[in-house]
This record gives sequence, C-alpha cells and structure tokens, in this order.
Amino acid sequence: VYNQIYSNPLPVPPVKQPTKKIVNPVTGKEIWYYELEIKSFTQQVYPGLKPARLVGYDGISPGPTFIVPRGTETVVRILNNAQIETSVHLHGSPSRAPFDGWAEDITNPGQYKDYYWPNNQNARFLWYHDHAMHVTAENAYFGQAGCYIITDPGEDALGLPSGYGQFDIPLALTSKFYNADGTLRSTEGEDDSLWGDVIHVNGQPWPYFNVQPRKYRFRFLNAAVSRSFALYFAKSSAVNTKLPFKVIASDAGLLQNSVTASDLYISMGERYEVVFDFSQFAGQTLELRNLAEVNGIGTDEDFAATNKVMKFVVSKTPVSDPSIVPPNLRTVPFPPASTGIDHHFRFHRTDSEWRINNVGFADVQNRILANVPRGKVEIWELENGSGGWTHPIHVHLVDFRVLSRTNADNGRQVLPYESAGLKDVVWLARHETVLVEAHYAPWNGVYMFHCHNLIHEDQDMMAAFNVSALAN
Ligand code: C2O
Ligand code: CU
Repeated sequence: VYNQIYSNPLPVPPVKQPTKKIVNPVTGKEIWYYELEIKSFTQQVYPGLKPARLVGYDGISPGPTFIVPRGTETVVRILNNAQIETSVHLHGSPSRAPFDGWAEDITNPGQYKDYYWPNNQNARFLWYHDHAMHVTAENAYFGQAGCYIITDPGEDALGLPSGYGQFDIPLALTSKFYNADGTLRSTEGEDDSLWGDVIHVNGQPWPYFNVQPRKYRFRFLNAAVSRSFALYFAKSSAVNTKLPFKVIASDAGLLQNSVTASDLYISMGERYEVVFDFSQFAGQTLELRNLAEVNGIGTDEDFAATNKVMKFVVSKTPVSDPSIVPPNLRTVPFPPASTGIDHHFRFHRTDSEWRINNVGFADVQNRILANVPRGKVEIWELENGSGGWTHPIHVHLVDFRVLSRTNADNGRQVLPYESAGLKDVVWLARHETVLVEAHYAPWNGVYMFHCHNLIHEDQDMMAAFNVSALAN
C-alpha cells in the first residue's frame, strides 16, 4: 500500500532545448533541431522497496516538454537506446505520414530516426508518445510520453496565466499497478484494460503542489493506458463540494469562449486546459479529485485511492494577479457545415479481439477503411459497438468538431467544452454513437485512427484512412 499520498511535490518536466537553430533555405523560417534519447532509468516509488525500472525520453517520464512557436519547424532526432522497438507519434500534429509514428515504422535498438514536424497550427497542447506495433501500451506505460506545446502571438496577447512551470502547469495523468517488490507491473497479459490503482501526476503518485492565491492555467493530459477521469476541485475540508473553474482549451487549442464547469471528463489521449482561481482559498488546501466510475460514464475499476489525484497547498499571503480569462478566446476554424454520413465505424469486440468494422490493424489487406479525397469535409459516425466499454477514438491528421452524441443508457450529449472547440479524440462511453466532422487536409497520406485505450489499440482496434488528391 502506498502510504505517501500528498507527501511528494509535483514534478514539472524540464523544457527541452534545441541543439541548434537553422534557417530553412526554402521557407526562410527557422528550423529547431533537437536530439532526444530513449533510455532506461529507475524511479524509487515505494520507499524501502526496489526501484521501478522505466524507459523514457531522455531518461525521464514524462519526457522533457517541447515549447515551440507556431511556424517554427522542428526536426527531432530520436535515438533508441533501449532494448525495445519504438515509433514516435506527435499527437495533435498534422505531420507528414512518414513522420506520424506509423505503428510499423519501427526504430530498432541502437538506431535513430529524424522526425520532422511542421508546427504550423494555432497554439495548442500536444503530446508525443510511443506508437510501436503491439507494444504501444507497454512502451507508453513504462514511460515513453511527453508534453509538447505550440505557442502563438494571438494566445500570448490574451493575458491568460502564463509562465511554464510557474503559472502554466502541465498535468499528465497516468494510472499504474506495482508489484509487491516495488517494481512496475507489466501490461502484458491484460486483454481488456489496465486500470491501475496508483494515480500519478507528471510521474509522481498523488503529489502536492504549492500555489499562490491567484489564477493558474493547468494543461490536463490523460496519458493513462486505460483509465478515464471525471475530475473536480474541492476544498480538503469539503471534498464532496465541487468548485467551479473555466475550461479554456481542448485538444486543438483555445475554445471559442471559456466554459465554466465544475467537473472535467477526460478520457485517454484527450487534453483540456483549465484556469482555476485560488484567490479565495489563501491558507487552505484543495484537492483534485476523481468521481467513482468516472461518474457512471465509464466502466473503470476503482481502488482505495483512485478518487484522489493531487493536493494544492495555497499560501497565505495575498498576491497581485494581472492574469485574466477573457470570455471570447478566439475564432475557432470550425469546418463548414456538411450533411450526410460519409463513413460509419463500429468499435467492437469479436471473439475477444478488438475490431473496427470487423477489421484489425494486423489485417494488412483490409485495414484501409476509408479513402478520403484531400480537401473534403466529411462526417464520420463512430459507434460504440461493445456495450460495456469506453473507447476514446483518435483520428490522426485532423481536428474534428463533435457534432452530436447519442447515448442509449443515460442520454449524455456533447459537453459544452467539447462543442466550443475542435478535438482529435472523442470519448465513446457505453452505448454511445458520436458524429464528428473534419476537413481532411493538408496532406495526402495513409493515416491511422484507433481506440486510445492502449490495450485495445495494441490488440488491433486500429485501422487506416487514405487521403489522396484523387477522387474515390
Ligand atoms: Cu495518441 Cu495514434 O495516438
Ligand atoms: Cu477501446
């Protein structure tokens, strides 16, 4: 049993510095060149027991955070110095297909690959993580995931709480199981989900974070293998009373307008950014909590402390806080309205295999399930065909608008903070069908889409779509 809940500080991943900056002779813009090394390291999680043996980017987990201004291209040389197969996906980036982390594009031990990422999007919170065929769950779980932030002047001018590591804090959530000797229990042998009974934030189980009585921007990333969260803030003295906060951004950056909420539903692969104002709580302690079974929306298994996430210790002394949350944040480029369903995908289980329309990713002949003319706006219908399970569905390359959600169980609809922006993952809870609309651009290429429960993904609940300039 872990007996150090709320007793270790929140780690904030360091910022990755480029090795050099060069000018792209074609575009005249800067390219930032980085070198990242995948290597093993240890983390002492349980005092007095063995350390957990992990593998991460630059030997830390989460890996270092990239912070890149919009329009600056990056080339990242990723050296695999571990005894495993790797492939790296920058989740949230419309990367060219060869740099998108295709599951079979394996970098073997001792090899490197140079990834080229365009960073031509509006400011947003992305993440990079392993995507290697059939071992993504194990690799991500053992540490291969990190944060990646694109900034832009429009967002900087809004006056939001700012300063990475100061008032702008990434919070990457994971959930893991440990063996009795203190080492991390493998994902191998799990055939539906790895729930985990130890909640980590930025790699630290149940940390605390010292804050000032002012506004903070928190960038939430659900990097767990299988656990979804329904998060809320509460005073330690009244843990069942949810305190309000503002949601300002989702997977694809700022929302159209900020959305006041008191709980935050976040499934695997999703990102939401919120501003929480601690100014009323000087000298108090607050907690970030998680509702049981993600409030009945999920089927996640709960354990003794999975209702707890982290603690905030608010200092007593008042501070001045120049930051604001303007009601209107930006004009979101929603795709033009389209009608009719272009593709229907059913996410289901067949003879204990996870499938999309009866196809698994290993079925090389049949796995391209859609041909999409480049530039077309399409509506995809995503159906949860396996009643009891949650499937967060991620479509590579595009940002989509969540048009509708139908739920036969509980009538759950599109959440206000889902519809106020664009997304690249949508949570299909039990018996849900969701319509998503996206503009399939800017590149031709064959891209993956899949369930972000990494156990399901590795068991082939993944397929591909082919964007091409030619009509079908
Ligand atoms: Cu976050 Cu295809 O993955
Ligand atoms: Cu799934």
